[in-house]
Amino acid sequence: MHRVALSAPDDFDGWRNAARGLAMAGVDPADIVWQVGDAPADLFGADLFGDAGLPPPLVAGGFSVSRPFIDLAQTAILHRDPERFALLYALLCRLRDRPRLMEDKADPLLRRVDALARAVRRDIHKMRAFVRFREVGEGDALRFVAWFEPDHHIVRVNAGFFVRRFATMRWSILTPELSIHWDGEALSEGPGATRQDAPDGDPVEALWKGYYAAIFNPARLKTGAMLSEMPKKYWRNLPEAALIPDLVAGAQRREAAMIATAPKAPPARPTNSAAAWDALRTEAMHCTRCPLHRDAIQTVFGEGPLNAPLFFIGEQPGDQEDLAGRPFVGPAGQLFDEALAEAGVDRARAYVTNAVKHFKYELRGKRRIHQTPDAGEVQACRWWLTQELDILRPRLVVALGATAARAMLGKAVTISRTRGQAIALESGAEGWVTVHPSYLLRLPDAAKAAEERARFVEELRVIGERARALV
Ligand code: URA
Repeated sequence: MHRVALSAPDDFDGWRNAARGLAMAGVDPADIVWQVGDAPADLFGADLFGDAGLPPPLVAGGFSVSRPFIDLAQTAILHRDPERFALLYALLCRLRDRPRLMEDKADPLLRRVDALARAVRRDIHKMRAFVRFREVGEGDALRFVAWFEPDHHIVRVNAGFFVRRFATMRWSILTPELSIHWDGEALSEGPGATRQDAPDGDPVEALWKGYYAAIFNPARLKTGAMLSEMPKKYWRNLPEAALIPDLVAGAQRREAAMIATAPKAPPARPTNSAAAWDALRTEAMHCTRCPLHRDAIQTVFGEGPLNAPLFFIGEQPGDQEDLAGRPFVGPAGQLFDEALAEAGVDRARAYVTNAVKHFKYELRGKRRIHQTPDAGEVQACRWWLTQELDILRPRLVVALGATAARAMLGKAVTISRTRGQAIALESGAEGWVTVHPSYLLRLPDAAKAAEERARFVEELRVIGERARALV
């Protein structure tokens, strides 16, 4: 029997080193006891890994495992389940004989480990979404303190996100297992804390409450979905949660008012795709297909009627979209709305999404400055876009700008040469390319900006007419 003592519950490197040696020595998963921290050496009569000496390696020169396994193991190991180390080791041993096992989504062991990883990803997302800082002290002693109770061992792995997001603040996040502190320059760790160690309400709450009430959209209220995204367990730490009962009570009234004032739409095409779209959106909320999820607050998925004849693709969410979780709500979105209105196109009857669903930015001081997604990020995110298109099957797809055009067509094109003409897409839909509204916002010359804006509106008008003709 071998006993492996890992230094911490999230000690992936320790697990990997031990697992590699054990697997190379051909040690059976049933012959290993995994533990966190030290325990009496004679427990189970086991030898501490490293001291005991392993049988000579069965595999000369080691063996390599695929990147997907490493990614999965790095995430799954953060789960609270005490079995996780053994499950991962068993999976590693099986991979040695079946290198393509990672592609077998029906394999029970892989499914079990995958479920652990999914729960961890959800928890990482919840921490990013639900940590709320309270202000304490003033002047030089000013800092922000938050209390959070994660389900899994995710605090260290999430620390980088909070450092990047709140780089210029001094803050502490207290959790039962460990606390992390950022002094504006370095991250440090301390012992676990209790809720009483964290302060209660303060002026930062007013800011959050105002923000939350402003983004609360009654038309999107689905109590079940809301509870699954924001389980009640987190409510007591969220200043805005106090608003929820009132907002929910007022939601039906506000929704009825929105419906009454909305333009009359033709009867909806019968569709069975709502469940598929809901499932896709839920899955995308935990997307880790490219590194952009690490710094963004949330996935910004498409929105709009599922039977919309018009399907707009933007580039990626910006700062405000990342905060609100909705596409095109910032300055580019305002220009887009105005241009659509002038072109006689009703945004409420269009589906609006982005080629890339996470905000890519560079932090400069307190500001998050937009960065154009690269070809790899666009390709990784086409996974979601193609499924949105498959579910909605729109008649007309409009790419706003070069990144969107790349996502729509699967290759890079020049906007000036492609815009203003119908393109037959493989799906049978008609594709159009035009400029991105941000391009218009960036034009320094007022006359040129006005001219380009008019051209954009005219293109939207033609596209709107095509949509009406094709319905
Ligand atoms: N720009 C985009 O391309 N999409 C948004 O959602 C916002 C700005």
